[in-house]
Amino acid sequence: MKTRTGRNVQFRRIWPGETALLTDHLKLLSPADRRFRFAREVDDAFIESYCARIDWLTDIVIGAFSGEELVGSGVFNLIGWTLPLTAGAAVAVDADLQGEGIGSELLRRLLVVSQNRLVRRLYLLCLNDNVAMRRMAQRFGGRIDTFRDETESLFEPSLPTPLSFAVEAMDASEHLAFWAGMPASALIQPRSRAA
Ligand SMILES: CC(C)(COP(=O)(O)OP(=O)(O)OC[C@H]1O[C@@H](n2cnc3c(N)ncnc32)[C@H](O)[C@@H]1OP(=O)(O)O)[C@@H](O)C(=O)NCCC(=O)NCCS
Repeated sequence: MKTRTGRNVQFRRIWPGETALLTDHLKLLSPADRRFRFAREVDDAFIESYCARIDWLTDIVIGAFSGEELVGSGVFNLIGWTLPLTAGAAVAVDADLQGEGIGSELLRRLLVVSQNRLVRRLYLLCLNDNVAMRRMAQRFGGRIDTFRDETESLFEPSLPTPLSFAVEAMDASEHLAFWAGMPASALIQPRSRAA
């Protein structure tokens, strides 16, 4: 996608061998954005442990890339296997690219992922003073509920349809185009920003 200021950003799944990319991206968030992302203040060790605990069998991580740099992330995680299926999601965008539509695109994709995996309840938690997240949740039809200092946005995706599968397939075709343009070295050992 072209961002509102004309930057070219591509979206694709992040895979288990790329955990370092996600860790570096989240560690680059400012203290304020870390607090917004995790609903509390967190240090580097917490972020490392959070990324190491991603269950790559059921969780889905979508990355937003500017060139080879991971500048945004959306994490979908299934919460147990009880019916109706329930999941949580969280998004983060590098500070210098916020307000350009990347967070909205990540959320749109997370909602399609949820629908196609029969998730009937998707929760996004944020702090009450997270204006951007609250606006985004409202725009995508989330039901907002506030308790103490936290805001819970509940989405109730419809059942999957041929169209929703087609939309996810089209999103995935961008992933293929992305990889096709990658040098082979990047496929073998994706570069982390700390390197
Ligand atoms: C929340 C976040 C992911 C939004 O990403 P983004 O790329 O800036 O989002 P978008 O550009 O798509 O904008 C989403 C909405 O927020 C608004 N917005 C963006 N930045 C804003 C700001 N600093 N203040 C107020 N509103 C803001 C946009 O105007 C837009 O509103 P609209 O839909 O009414 O036009 C990003 O701000 C972020 O990473 N924050 C830190 C981590 C975090 O809060 N994560 C959410 C908890 S799960």
